Amino acid sequence: MIVVTGATGNIGRPLTQALAAADQQVTAVSRHTAAVPEGVRHVAADLAAPAGLKPALAGAKALFLLLSGDLHAAGAGPADIIGQAAASGVRRVVLLSTLGVVTRPFGPTRIAMRALEDTLRESGLEWAILRPGGFASNALWWAESVRAQQVVAAPFGDVGVPIIDPADIAEVAAACLLEDRHAGGVYELTGPEVITPRQQAAAIAGALG
Ligand SMILES: NC(=O)c1ccc[n+]([C@@H]2O[C@H](COP(=O)([O-])OP(=O)(O)OC[C@H]3O[C@@H](n4cnc5c(N)ncnc54)[C@H](OP(=O)(O)O)[C@@H]3O)[C@@H](O)[C@H]2O)c1
Repeated sequence: MIVVTGATGNIGRPLTQALAAADQQVTAVSRHTAAVPEGVRHVAADLAAPAGLKPALAGAKALFLLLSGDLHAAGAGPADIIGQAAASGVRRVVLLSTLGVVTRPFGPTRIAMRALEDTLRESGLEWAILRPGGFASNALWWAESVRAQQVVAAPFGDVGVPIIDPADIAEVAAACLLEDRHAGGVYELTGPEVITPRQQAAAIAGALG
């Protein structure tokens, strides 16, 4: 059985679907109950209280670990989740980190994420670490201002980054969970081309007419 945390989010939803489609037993974890693909078990738990993950982790062989943005700031001790997974018999953990640990390593959340990567490496478990750059889904943050004012606000309109579709991250995560050859892999993940906020705004304008 494979446990997917963040299961109802941008990455977790397609990942849960992909694993279920690959005939894997899947436990989807989020705080709020939500619809999950047929055959998938949903367990409501808060990653800020790792002991509460016990029922989700019981009998699991692998864990996809995705922390919500503010877990480090809350001082929740996400390293305890890795300890809890090991104690539950999980053998493989795929950690969703961030490219920020390389490109902007000095912020407090990036320092905490790098420490969590190190905890996982030293855990004795099999592991893989995914370091994606900016998500294409971040454009959804503009939805309200586009609807209300037809405005996209971005600090650097002509600075592009190779944003990545979260569904592509989910595909990589599924491969790392299912295939032995990714053990010990650290994967920096981006999309295929640099795109600027101005280009994204133009694409949205084109789509909306
Ligand atoms: N956006 C970017 O450009 C970017 C770049 C690199 C890395 N990342 C990383 O990507 C992650 C976000 O991925 P995403 O976009 O797929 O997430 P998302 O769409 O924001 O979804 C978050 C998921 O986590 C669950 N969740 C949130 N807080 C939780 C908690 N305390 N305990 C248990 N479950 C919780 C949510 O469900 P509930 O609310 O029901 O709990 C939901 O299923 C973050 O770790 C972020 O640092 C983001």
